[in-house]
Amino acid sequence: MKKNFGLLLVFVFLSYPLLVSSQFDEFLYSGFNALKGNISLNGVAEVENIGVVRLTNDTRRLIGRAFYPSALKFKNSTNGKAFSFSTSFAFAIVPEYPKLGGHGLAFALAPSKELPGALPIQYLGLFNATDVGNYSNHIFAVEFDTVQDFEFGDINDNHVGIDIDSLRSNSSAPAAYFADKSSKVDLNLKSGNVILAWVDYDSVRNLVNVTLSPSSTKPELPIISYPVDLSPILLDSMFIGFSASTGLLASSHYIFGWSFKMNGVAQDLELSSLPTLPVPTKKNLPLTIGVSVAASVFLLAVIFLSIYLFRKIKNADVIEDWELNIGPHRFTYEELKVATKGFREKELLGFGGFGRVYKGKLPNSKAHVAVKQLSHESKQGLREFVSEIATIGRLRHRNLVQLQGWCRRRGDLLLVYDYLPNGSLDKFIFEEPKVILTWEQRFKIIKGIASALLYLHEEWEQIVIHRDIKAGNVLLDSELNGRLGDFGLAKLYEHGSNPTTTHVVGTLGYLAPELTRTGKATTGSDVFAFGALLLEITCGRRPIEPKALPEELVLVDWVWDRWTAGRVFDVVDRRLEGEFDEAEVVVVLKLGLMCSNSTPTVRPNMKQVVSYLDGEAKMPEALSAPGEYEAGKNSEGFDDFVHSYPSSSLGKVSSYSFPGDVEAPTASSLSPFFSKAHNSL
Ligand SMILES: *[C@@H]1O[C@H](CO)[C@@H](O)[C@H](O)[C@H]1NC(C)=O
Ligand SMILES: *[C@@H]1O[C@H](CO)[C@@H](O)[C@H](O)[C@H]1NC(C)=O
Ligand SMILES: *[C@@H]1O[C@H](CO)[C@@H](O)[C@H](O)[C@H]1NC(C)=O
Ligand SMILES: *[C@@H]1O[C@H](CO)[C@@H](O)[C@H](O)[C@H]1NC(C)=O
Ligand SMILES: *[C@@H]1O[C@H](CO)[C@@H](O)[C@H](O)[C@H]1NC(C)=O
Ligand SMILES: *[C@@H]1O[C@H](CO)[C@@H](O)[C@H](O)[C@H]1NC(C)=O
Ligand SMILES: *[C@@H]1O[C@H](CO)[C@@H](O)[C@H](O)[C@H]1NC(C)=O
Repeated sequence: MKKNFGLLLVFVFLSYPLLVSSQFDEFLYSGFNALKGNISLNGVAEVENIGVVRLTNDTRRLIGRAFYPSALKFKNSTNGKAFSFSTSFAFAIVPEYPKLGGHGLAFALAPSKELPGALPIQYLGLFNATDVGNYSNHIFAVEFDTVQDFEFGDINDNHVGIDIDSLRSNSSAPAAYFADKSSKVDLNLKSGNVILAWVDYDSVRNLVNVTLSPSSTKPELPIISYPVDLSPILLDSMFIGFSASTGLLASSHYIFGWSFKMNGVAQDLELSSLPTLPVPTKKNLPLTIGVSVAASVFLLAVIFLSIYLFRKIKNADVIEDWELNIGPHRFTYEELKVATKGFREKELLGFGGFGRVYKGKLPNSKAHVAVKQLSHESKQGLREFVSEIATIGRLRHRNLVQLQGWCRRRGDLLLVYDYLPNGSLDKFIFEEPKVILTWEQRFKIIKGIASALLYLHEEWEQIVIHRDIKAGNVLLDSELNGRLGDFGLAKLYEHGSNPTTTHVVGTLGYLAPELTRTGKATTGSDVFAFGALLLEITCGRRPIEPKALPEELVLVDWVWDRWTAGRVFDVVDRRLEGEFDEAEVVVVLKLGLMCSNSTPTVRPNMKQVVSYLDGEAKMPEALSAPGEYEAGKNSEGFDDFVHSYPSSSLGKVSSYSFPGDVEAPTASSLSPFFSKAHNSL
């Protein structure tokens, strides 16, 4: 009896927080504070001074959680039925790279606030590879996911889903809201803008609704309405809060405000009363000027005069001393303005993260050119880069896109290149090209690019490393000769000292594994990227193809697999309809595999590559496995590769666009990395 009484005391003591929580629990956070007990933070989550919870910053592989400090009673102890509840919260996801979020956040009901053993990346800090899908987790979550994980059957890289003990959502929908009953408007979760979300559970109708909105007004219709009885899923007492994670791609995940009510409707959150992220404010012109007519006229005159003077000054190129000694032709800004018809939208050939490319016709020579506009926030970086133009401008090779000249205007750098009407090679090999290149044409392009690279690496007075070889940087002239563009540009962004500038030294899928460890570009890392290019030209697909069958996902793996199976012609682009020179294809594929070797010393150099392609040297009989790229099978290395990206070398995001440049890879095109890497966790 006595013993039992003691036990009871212990029980009462342990369950104290439970006893204070009632079936009518309610709270409202319009902002958070860092004082103890206001909100329980876990992982890397922090309350920022402005009163916003930042679950994660944009560093890789983080978990951050914020939970209501005490557990709440979620079930009627008499009949074991889960209570109804309703919650509303305001969040924002600010990705490191504009179009690539990683990975997302979730509103969760869980048995603990710590969730020991849970992983970041696609697991959102809620599960791990062992417990995902196990009903003894007792986790109910609503995910706001910005990466498409094929492993969990995600519908896209911008969706909301209901997760029960698993990340394979029981119901999911692309992020959107109902502006009214009949019009559904898409929402971009990773836009960086504040989004309001409501999760309502009705325990009578056994229904969970999820509603989103970009404003404080709750739309009438939810985007997910999922029938489920949460009683068997929830425990008697549960913690509620948020969990977010980052992976190779990363976003900062923020919570601005949160309200909750058990057995009732949560209080509305008023966006205007919530803290906001400091954003660079746009300067507003003082427009309200109550003055007499005379004064207005005077004012107008002053304004026009200022605009005139401002324009004049703005257009005037202030030439600094150091610019005068730079090699290739220096164009005046006026010349280029005329050439591009005032940088007219219509003349735009393409654009990427750093600037736009315009088509132009030089006023004097009437020659067609491509004018690339780069902006650079660091003057120092710009200056160093401009001095490199001297070098680049002297490079001459029939398979390089010739830099004709340049022009600097404040922080903008304008580079003038030969205009190539056929645009870039990627347009001819990926997805649905208008023209299918024949094998003969492809082989000619391959040989051309190989000789351009040999020139850059070995035949010029200095070693020039391209750093960004890929189909998007190979341009085709009118005779469909391949010409390598954008050499040396990657350096510009290494000199940049502005930390907010995206630093880029390559494109995911073309990055040599050692580059991700050492961060040092070498001729060997160029050869690696060239290997990827060889394979994609021959196979007609990208190095990583999310739409492919799992075993064909990573091109190198697939080619190696077919090679070892003795069925290498299986990988050749089907659109060639079997019309190709088998001997040449074998040389190119074998070379592609050799260049893709994860060990730099095993890769051939460009001199060897060229002599193999020309048939001057005989290729070695034995071929070793490409190595680390054998994802899954040898996943230790691959995992390492995936997660060891220094921040400066993550897959290029849009970047140096040139005539008709490629789009930034979407998060979904990258996600296979994550799923693959984690098969082994
Ligand atoms: C936490 O702090 C915020 C902001 O100061 C306040 O609005 C909220 O009521 C507090 N919540 C709790 C549970 O203390
Ligand atoms: C992000 O958070 C992690 C962990 O708190 C920290 O180590 C890292 O320095 C932070 N990164 C930035 C850019 O603030
Ligand atoms: C719990 O269930 C019992 C029996 O069904 C019911 O009488 C009681 O009102 C319920 N309590 C709450 C808080 O819903
Ligand atoms: C997975 O998480 C569970 C807790 O849910 C933990 O017990 C287990 O050790 C974790 N497994 C791994 C491999 O970390
Ligand atoms: C689920 O987890 C429980 C407890 O961690 C474990 O005993 C059980 O074997 C797991 N079930 C499955 C199917 O993995
Ligand atoms: C959720 O979906 C899984 C399958 O994805 C299913 O096994 C499970 O029964 C569903 N859970 C509920 C509560 O409907
Ligand atoms: C959930 O949405 C449906 C419409 O799909 C609506 O009829 C129902 O009242 C909503 N329930 C809650 C609890 O919001």
